[in-house]
Amino acid sequence: MLDLIVRNATLSDGRQGLDIGVAEGRIQVVEARLAAVAGREIDAEGQLVTPPFVDAHFHLDAALSYGLPRVNQSGTLLEGIALWGELKPLLTQEALVERAMAYCDWAVARGLLAIRSHVDVCDPRLLAVEALLHVKERVRPYLDLQLVAFPQDGVLRSAGALDNLVRALDMGVDVVGGIPHFERTMAEGAESVRILCELAAERGLPVDMHCDESDDPHSRHVETLAYHAQRLGLQGRVAGSHLTSMHSMDSYYVSKLLPLMAEAGLAAIANPLINITLQGRHDSYPKRRGMTRVPELLAAGVPVAFGHDCVMDPWYGLGSADMLEVAAMGLHVAQMTSQEAMRECFAAVTTTAARVIGLPDYGLAPGCRADFVVLQACDPVDAVRRRATRLAVVRGGQVIATTPAATTALHLSGRPGAVDFSPPRPGGA
Ligand code: FE2
Repeated sequence: MLDLIVRNATLSDGRQGLDIGVAEGRIQVVEARLAAVAGREIDAEGQLVTPPFVDAHFHLDAALSYGLPRVNQSGTLLEGIALWGELKPLLTQEALVERAMAYCDWAVARGLLAIRSHVDVCDPRLLAVEALLHVKERVRPYLDLQLVAFPQDGVLRSAGALDNLVRALDMGVDVVGGIPHFERTMAEGAESVRILCELAAERGLPVDMHCDESDDPHSRHVETLAYHAQRLGLQGRVAGSHLTSMHSMDSYYVSKLLPLMAEAGLAAIANPLINITLQGRHDSYPKRRGMTRVPELLAAGVPVAFGHDCVMDPWYGLGSADMLEVAAMGLHVAQMTSQEAMRECFAAVTTTAARVIGLPDYGLAPGCRADFVVLQACDPVDAVRRRATRLAVVRGGQVIATTPAATTALHLSGRPGAVDFSPPRPGGA
């Protein structure tokens, strides 16, 4: 006996007319015209059913704090860091939890069911760590929250930061973070990468560093990150987040760097909305885009996930937990406009992101967790194009959010009726 059947689904790989049968929180069967019955059925009507959206890079401790205590006037990364420093002493556990829980509601509504969030460990009270560990437990039934111990002010530059980071790991934070480009010197940045990778190796933890989030082409900490990942046998467990300096690097050097990253089993996480907003701020014209070299990384065999990074916080005043908006921006900034490349951008907020953050049992194959989203779209490219409505969000076989299909009625004389944003059918010339 099945608990749920989704009828007539289209999958991301193009297969159509499939029924998905769910029991005991897992996908049991995926086949055409499933004869079984279930306690609940959803008719997908040929729309796209995808595993949930995954945000590989976020800051849940800062989310929804926009305007506190003031707005970032210059719009730069550095003013954002200074502003967050002003806000930190004013934070309360209660407010942190309330904002994070509110954001998780937004996420669920958008079909975003897994988030890797960095949490600042430079406040010796570790208020944000305590708050997000609490939130992680509260949302566990419906959202996978992974936490990264992130020394925002520099693990060597900020007094006590390394001790705080170790305490955060002892408290249950999952991943070792870092910010080498913010340390005092290039040498200290490199030293921070060594210390943090060794700490991760000792504890058997993954690494995810803010790395080279800079327009400085000489910010080359990703090379050091690849070196230590290789040296310590951390292949497949290390991610470099942002990597924006790669945008500005000399292409000859990048031709050496890319194979080193692939050999070290590194993953890359770009944050298109934030990179295009924060980078290039010191340029006049032409103004650099700043996002890392996504197509080149993919071609070299380095998996690339996209993150939202910020929503209504000291660095960014917009956002609504919509990973399709993130995918769309990544697609535009990287000029990834072939059909295959657009599908890669969808994967960067679904399957690739799940792989990069090590999410278990993810996907739509039998045996996977019954987590998925029914979208008002016919395929992944259409979903990105339309920022598709999440018709139903399912977690462990339970429907946890629904949104009515987007429809608009026209009131034009001679052209009455609803607008259909479906793509034109091929062959209609
Ligand atoms: Fe970040």
